[in-house]
Amino acid sequence: MRAMRIVIQLPEGRDHRPWAEALTRVFPAAAIRRWVPGDEAPADFALVWRTPAAFFEKPRGLRAVFALGAGVDALLAVVPAAVPLVRLDDAGMSAQMAEYVARELFRLFPAPALTGDRAADVAAYEASDAARPVVGVLGLGALGAPVATALGMLGFAVRGWSRTPKALSGVVCHHGPAGLEAMLAPARVLVNLLPLTPETAGILNAALFKKLPIGAYLVNVARGAHLVEADLLSALDSGRLSGATLDVFRVEPLPAGDPLARHPRIRVTPHIAARTLVAPAAAQIALKIRALGDGAGVSALPGFVDRARGY
Ligand code: NDP
Ligand code: OXD
Repeated sequence: MRAMRIVIQLPEGRDHRPWAEALTRVFPAAAIRRWVPGDEAPADFALVWRTPAAFFEKPRGLRAVFALGAGVDALLAVVPAAVPLVRLDDAGMSAQMAEYVARELFRLFPAPALTGDRAADVAAYEASDAARPVVGVLGLGALGAPVATALGMLGFAVRGWSRTPKALSGVVCHHGPAGLEAMLAPARVLVNLLPLTPETAGILNAALFKKLPIGAYLVNVARGAHLVEADLLSALDSGRLSGATLDVFRVEPLPAGDPLARHPRIRVTPHIAARTLVAPAAAQIALKIRALGDGAGVSALPGFVDRARGY
């Protein structure tokens, strides 16, 4: 029987060897190679990220393409419609995302300073707990659901929003266009964890900001194109929003002179909210390849991208 062929395409400067080593441990007979421009050879599976169109120019008989990230908006533009695309399903990212968002919340709403007087300190902590804001989470998927649940466990009142109905412990769930306004109305902090699709592009705009309480704070950890930057800048200048933390941008890295980078009430991080971790991601991909080998249908795999939905 012919050996399984796996091709790994990574942006320049990224080492493919940890991926190859992790997959070789599971599939010792597999022929695993790094893609270089000009390689048009067939392969059964591809692991890809920030993929040049040239990779897909000639069909190579791929049974599936595995994205080495959670968001597939950029890949959908280059992966041919006939080739099944499977993205990472959490794979160690939700814990990082929950930590990132929690850090922002505790920076905005820090613990009270201790006075040394126990009764006063207890009272200050109780008052601080009672004053915790309602946090709204847009997107309750592989990352949004654990983030919302974790924030609930930390004592925040959490509201979430998704396309289809959800039931999550400690989270008041809303869904669909009709559920958005009710979710936004009490949310003093809004966290965006939606995928970028034609329906969600530009969703963080002036009309949405007007549905939040005055002085609400925005955390965008999903994609830069969810945000209408000019609307954010106006909302900050008018006091409609009090500030924003942005991890993602239309152009990355964000140019130093960009108005978002210079604004005193915008905190910028360089797309680091949740990084792809090789060990859990490679283990997840190996399990999926094994499931396909055992006869599972690709559309049954967690993280299978439904092109009609766009995520
Ligand atoms: P999922 O596909 O698992 O979840 C997407 C969620 O958004 C689902 O709950 C879905 O609803 C909801 N949704 C999609 N479209 C709509 C819509 N039109 N209206 C309402 N809700 C909608 O994605 P992940 O949780 O894995 O990832 C989310 C995004 O996070 C990624 O697409 C990526 O852009 C970003 N990301 C950012 C990182 C960073 O470091 N900053 C790292 C990793 C990811 P339903 O459940 O009903 O389908
Ligand atoms: C991802 C990302 O989608 O890194 O995984 O943003």
